[in-house]
Amino acid sequence: MSEPLLEVKDLNIHFFTDEGVVKAADGVDLIIERGKTLCLVGESGCGKSVTSRSFLNIIPSPGKIVSGQMLYRQQLPDGTTTTIDLAALDPKGKDIRRIRGKEISMIFQEPMTSLSMMHTVGDQITETIRLHENVSKQEARDRAIEMLRLVGIPKPARLIDEYPFRLSGGMRQRTMIAMALCCNPTMLIADEPTTALDVTTQAQILDLMLELQQRYNMALLFITHDLGVVAEIADEVAVMYLGKIVERADVDTIFNAPKHPYTQALLHSIPKIAMKREELDPIKGMIPNPYRRPSGCAFHPRCSQVMERCKHITPNVTAIQPDHTVRCLLYEDMPEQVTQKEAMHHD
Ligand SMILES: Nc1ncnc2c1ncn2[C@@H]1O[C@H](COP(=O)(O)OP(=O)(O)OP(=O)(O)O)[C@@H](O)[C@H]1O
Ligand SMILES: [Mg+2]
Repeated sequence: MSEPLLEVKDLNIHFFTDEGVVKAADGVDLIIERGKTLCLVGESGCGKSVTSRSFLNIIPSPGKIVSGQMLYRQQLPDGTTTTIDLAALDPKGKDIRRIRGKEISMIFQEPMTSLSMMHTVGDQITETIRLHENVSKQEARDRAIEMLRLVGIPKPARLIDEYPFRLSGGMRQRTMIAMALCCNPTMLIADEPTTALDVTTQAQILDLMLELQQRYNMALLFITHDLGVVAEIADEVAVMYLGKIVERADVDTIFNAPKHPYTQALLHSIPKIAMKREELDPIKGMIPNPYRRPSGCAFHPRCSQVMERCKHITPNVTAIQPDHTVRCLLYEDMPEQVTQKEAMHHD
């Protein structure tokens, strides 16, 4: 296996609020490879957005990276690579600003998060290009038009002088993708980029992203609720629950041989064509309040295979195969004495 582009090790991101501390990322390990697609899935509030934003060091206050490493292998002009720990960079410093938007860029569910209403599409894209590259205004404008054409915008030379609020949802999303890709990033983070679009536009945008990914050999971190999309685009899948990656494997393994009861439950909850509503099998129970995290394995109150010790012991990462890991006591070799001792200790 080649060296990963981004290796996240034991990442902890906490929100310090008046009501208490929310562990949005609680010991997250992830590997993202050049040219590959990693899908990050999990129910609402499990920490997908916060974790992925941390790669750009844009965590909303009062959130903080409290520990962990995000090792980014940066390619230098001479072809060699150097490793930068993104977690250690000053969020406002010039090092992360050089990477953010150029080498690692992000598209959001809501285009207005990254597009301004006050400036034309062209001004925004050319400004991004000129921030990172030493090119003339005219060159940047030509490149912006080319980029808009590439993302499927008809008559880009005309659209470039429009304001985003005059565009349809699909066009805005395409514009945002053009902006994210205008500096040829090595990694693109897409946080539910198509959820707000109709299915036809959604499919077109997905195809477009995959095509551009291949063309530029980009790593893609794709966040979605839609397991149908995951099946279509992922190479690797990471399943997240309450701030932890509970299972990680290649896409075929996740769909055909999932190990974690949470992954299994997520897969069972996907509606299939011609299924009646009463046949759907939603995951039982509610996602816990982040301030009142269950003891032991956080999934235990909802787990169909819960055991007594799950209430007391936090599972470690177990490797089922070298590239298939799971955090679940069902797969951990644990002598009975240890289990009892730990249980007593926690009671
Ligand atoms: N500004 C904030 N202040 C306090 N807590 C926050 C803040 N932003 C996020 N959190 C908490 O961090 C946790 C993770 O949130 P995050 O937005 O990453 O979830 P998500 O998996 O992206 O969910 P969704 O699928 O709904 O987008 C949540 O419990 C949330 O309450
Ligand atoms: Mg989110």
